[in-house]
Amino acid sequence: MKETYTIAEIDAVASQVHSRANRPAEVGIILGSGLGDFADEIHDAVSIPYSEISGWPVSTVPGHQGRLIFGSLEGKAVMVLQGRVHYYEGYSMAEATLPVRVMQRLGVGSLIVTNAAGAINPGFQPGDLMLITDQLNLMTMAGPNPLRGPNLNEIGPRFPDMSQAYDRSYLQKARQAASSLKLALREGVYAGLAGPSFESPADLRFLRLAGADAVGMSTVGEVIVARHGGTRVLGVSGISNKANLDGNTVTTHEEVLAAGKVIVPKLSRLLLSFLRELKF
Ligand code: HPA
Repeated sequence: MKETYTIAEIDAVASQVHSRANRPAEVGIILGSGLGDFADEIHDAVSIPYSEISGWPVSTVPGHQGRLIFGSLEGKAVMVLQGRVHYYEGYSMAEATLPVRVMQRLGVGSLIVTNAAGAINPGFQPGDLMLITDQLNLMTMAGPNPLRGPNLNEIGPRFPDMSQAYDRSYLQKARQAASSLKLALREGVYAGLAGPSFESPADLRFLRLAGADAVGMSTVGEVIVARHGGTRVLGVSGISNKANLDGNTVTTHEEVLAAGKVIVPKLSRLLLSFLRELKF
């Protein structure tokens, strides 16, 4: 397991990607569990399996296709991760967030992160979309932060600010997009846990008290790395299940993937409208 990367190591991966894709990328998009079909919207797509990029972490989880796709969406040059890797798969935080570093080195300045999440807020239902307004990094708050190790001074500062991890103007743009599409959009705080076990009822009551509205096993590290390099972030959770606060229901990965089918069409409308309005 690699705990840190040098700029040269990141650039070695970035240059393979660049020579395979042979086109620029302005916006990075990471598609979470069950949400990979959003990639069907991409025009002029060039697809690169992760397994063909030496040094790229390969996902081992059903529902994560494992392809990097370059192309265009609403006139924006995009680089889309159809599937991500997670800390719980045994990757280090640096490995799990390497794709964001590669995006930064290839010139991506805006990142859209998506994920499947369990609803902690009792007002949320499976199938809802939630704009992420802030995050609780319970995955590594007191442990292996993805920025642990020598700082990459070429990319960002030793102690990066996280006061606006999710860009306020992007949040506003997404709200406007939802309102003109008449699409219901929830908002809230995403808590990122290490997983892979789902939460116990006591875990969930604790998260609720801590101010979380939704919970998942990804995203928070990617956003820390994005902000370290000044990349602006929009985050959207697809609510796949109600978290089991009372201990009377069982959460399964199959349920999470099935919810994606309902969520993808709404997510597509929201993101395409957001991208249409995005100015750099
Ligand atoms: N808990 C954690 N991660 C998740 C959940 C959940 O309920 N649903 C989707 N990802």
